Amino acid sequence: MPTTIDPPAPDTKSHKLWGGRFGAGPTPEFDALNNSIGVDFRLWPYDIRLSKAWAVALWGANVLTLDESKAIERGLDGVAARLAAGEQPLASDEDVHTLIDRLLHDEVGDVASKLHTGRSRNDQVATATRLWTMDLCQRLDHATRMLQGALLEQAESLQTVLMPSYTHLQRAIPVSAAHWLLAHFWPLERDRARLRAAAKSAAVLPLGSGAVAGCAYPISRVLLQGTLGFDALSPNSIDAVSDRDFIAEVLFTATMIGTHLSRLAEDLIIYGSSEFGFVQFGEGYTSGSSMMPQKRNPDALELARGSAARMLGDLTALLATLKGLPSSYNKDLQDDKRYLFDATDTLLLVLPATAGALSECRFRPERMAAALSSTMMATDLADYLVRRGATFREAHKAVGALVRESEASGVEMHALPFASFSAAHPRFAEDVVEALGAARSVAQREVEGGTGPEAVRVQLEAARTALLPPPTPRSSNAAV
Ligand code: ARG
Repeated sequence: MPTTIDPPAPDTKSHKLWGGRFGAGPTPEFDALNNSIGVDFRLWPYDIRLSKAWAVALWGANVLTLDESKAIERGLDGVAARLAAGEQPLASDEDVHTLIDRLLHDEVGDVASKLHTGRSRNDQVATATRLWTMDLCQRLDHATRMLQGALLEQAESLQTVLMPSYTHLQRAIPVSAAHWLLAHFWPLERDRARLRAAAKSAAVLPLGSGAVAGCAYPISRVLLQGTLGFDALSPNSIDAVSDRDFIAEVLFTATMIGTHLSRLAEDLIIYGSSEFGFVQFGEGYTSGSSMMPQKRNPDALELARGSAARMLGDLTALLATLKGLPSSYNKDLQDDKRYLFDATDTLLLVLPATAGALSECRFRPERMAAALSSTMMATDLADYLVRRGATFREAHKAVGALVRESEASGVEMHALPFASFSAAHPRFAEDVVEALGAARSVAQREVEGGTGPEAVRVQLEAARTALLPPPTPRSSNAAV
């Protein structure tokens, strides 16, 4: 029987946070699969922040002396400075936490080894990802607001311009062009409320949960919460290390924004076709064709439309990952960041490009007006009869007969002889032509949320108010 055991083979290749119980090191194939540094490197500023707070928490728990805690904090500042100056990870760094640990050893030597006391990468990565997400929600809010601003600006200039509205992509009833554009403003307003809710879900602190069962040292999680700017503490350590609901919420919101952008893009693309001609695209967000010299293609808008599919894919991938997991942390969760970053990087490209493409669109009121035909006032004509005592059913039938006559004869409704009107219904009088005007049709729809000029004015006012910056929180005043 051997009386000694072989010491572990020194791992000369890489700095590891684990390995004591392993003889041989991991295979290159495993490293290639397992290393996440290529994805999670961007979390470094957040990992530094939480690590500094953790060093203080360990001092508070009497695990570190004040000097040790300060040395680690200074060392982490040094690491941050190196990374901010452009220092890149090594291929052998497993993930961002391992990278920072390696650089911290470089900066302060052995005392660095004490920082990982009582914590695990499980609560660490969850905390860093939440901090990153809290910032992200603000960036997304800003970019969404910019697009809303572009919509509002165009809408203000189109207040008195009339165009057809469509259902089933068939001409329906005239509307103010501002009303159509604002129909793309309000979905984004709902998205911003979703972003606020997702940011709140992210603002729950998992640090102190350890690997799964909670930290065994008396660290103050309440202090950590305050230092790191979280709203609440996670109530259960098993849940805390695997709760990715906040990522699902951000991905859903991103997908929803992507979907809304896609629909706006689709409207603009159709309206920009020669057949519609309501919109002329600018030069900054379009491209030409390598073959057809006449082309100007709305690429930015098409890419916005296409990107919604990517975001939906990322949301689906995350939900599919979560649904079969046993409780607590499992390595499948490492890919959460892949989906989160992919979807939101995409969105942060698409939002400003869509805003830019929209801002440089020139709308063509004359083409919009030319698309309005008196047949579109068929509903107004039925309403005319109702006001004169007919039932709506009866009126609908009478107007239907006039539409049929107009279609069969190729004569627009307003040009049909009065005899046709009185044959269709005895309550038609000579003033019926007035009911066939687009401006009149619009003017009658002053109900809240309608397309009447006053209703649209009120709507524009509400949209302007929605874009005002939120009131400054009292706490930031109290500090001065
Ligand atoms: N890179 C990992 C991730 O992103 C960190 C957590 C690893 N935890 C572990 N027990 N291996 O999920």
